[in-house]
Amino acid sequence: MKRIIFILSVFLVVLLIVWMVGRFNRSSGGGVERNGYQASTRNTEIVIYDIDDLEAQVAQIIPKGGFDYISGGAETENVLRRNILAFDAVDIYPRVLTGVDTPDVRTSILGTNIALPVIVAPAAAHGLAHISAESGTARGAAAAGTIMCVSNYASSTLAEIAAAGDGAPQWFQLYLSKDDAFNRQIVKRAEDLGYSAIILTVDAPIGGKRVRDVRNNFKFPLAMPNVAKKSGKTKGQGIGAIFAAGQNVLSPYDIMRVKSMTRLPVIVKGIQHPDDADLAINAGADAIWVSNHGGRQLDGAPASFEVLADVAARVNKRVPIIFDSGIRRGQHIFKAIASGADVVAIGRPVIYGLALGGWRGVVSVFDYLKQDLQRVMWLAGAQTIGEIKNTTLRRRCIPVQCDEL
Ligand SMILES: Cc1cc2nc3c(=O)[nH]c(=O)nc-3n(C[C@H](O)[C@H](O)[C@H](O)COP(=O)(O)O)c2cc1C
Repeated sequence: MKRIIFILSVFLVVLLIVWMVGRFNRSSGGGVERNGYQASTRNTEIVIYDIDDLEAQVAQIIPKGGFDYISGGAETENVLRRNILAFDAVDIYPRVLTGVDTPDVRTSILGTNIALPVIVAPAAAHGLAHISAESGTARGAAAAGTIMCVSNYASSTLAEIAAAGDGAPQWFQLYLSKDDAFNRQIVKRAEDLGYSAIILTVDAPIGGKRVRDVRNNFKFPLAMPNVAKKSGKTKGQGIGAIFAAGQNVLSPYDIMRVKSMTRLPVIVKGIQHPDDADLAINAGADAIWVSNHGGRQLDGAPASFEVLADVAARVNKRVPIIFDSGIRRGQHIFKAIASGADVVAIGRPVIYGLALGGWRGVVSVFDYLKQDLQRVMWLAGAQTIGEIKNTTLRRRCIPVQCDEL
């Protein structure tokens, strides 16, 4: 009998230790449960010759399901490709007698000063890329001197991300839930934790058809802790099910509703048509975010850059404009700002940096873009971000392609 009690006690002690170690791992450093999914654990600066090189490197180090979810787009992926190619339709005139010396890339957006006009786009599930997840990205963004935007489908909690940012500016991105009490609760939580703007994403009432995810039968291997209580089991669900749990009908009234929930500025993300920009601003949007979700929603649509100038003309400086989808180099940043954007955001490049080097890799991506932009500005004769805004680009595309630009 004594022997049995002894064995049982040892067994219970071992169980207790295993449980405590598990708890410690989850709570320290913003780590995420792995559940057999092996995200990157790297922690190093990365050498970047060209941002375009990163995708293939990431494909080598994270599981295919996660990689395809991050890198893929909707249907034929034409929009995904075109988002990058579209920048080639315009040229930057080299300017050589301007006396420009070491261009200044600092700027500000909605009252926040940033080291360069590039911020982190909100993206779900950074835990697919790296075990530090959004906590790692937030630390990298803070070190790079820029704004971290946090998806409500993040793998780290809002509190962990805020702690990792250590006071650096962070914005919270909301997909509306069908449950209004939950919307209010999560916006309030973000506000209490020090997030300084709410991004309302309006281009995903339903998920786009992402064929790679369908072929892979991709299910999120990690939980989404900020919405898990509301949406139930997020781990093990496909993206379609996640979006289905959100609000599937959106109108300007929803912008007014979110405005009524918070004292923070509300940014409306996913605008691609001048009429939608008008609707959003008339409903109280404090900024417009021109984006096609990185080519992940409607295939057969224009590139994000192709619609930017028209939207900017309609906005007519009533509110600031943030732009994303396809930004990979300094000339893209320059062209977007010269076409009406105040700042740009990057989605996949940040996640690739995170996978390849953890928070240090995120810093490497921003350092690379900063230097690339500075070089382009120098060669184009722009001393400041303000001067880029006053630059005229040269349209290069053949007329038939330009008709709709
Ligand atoms: C893996 C991944 C997840 C994303 N999740 C979200 C999200 O949760 N909320 C959102 O508003 N946008 C989301 N986006 C879109 C990004 O905010 C951004 O619009 C897009 O990545 C920009 O394109 P780029 O990747 O070419 O820079 C996601 C993008 C990617 C690549």
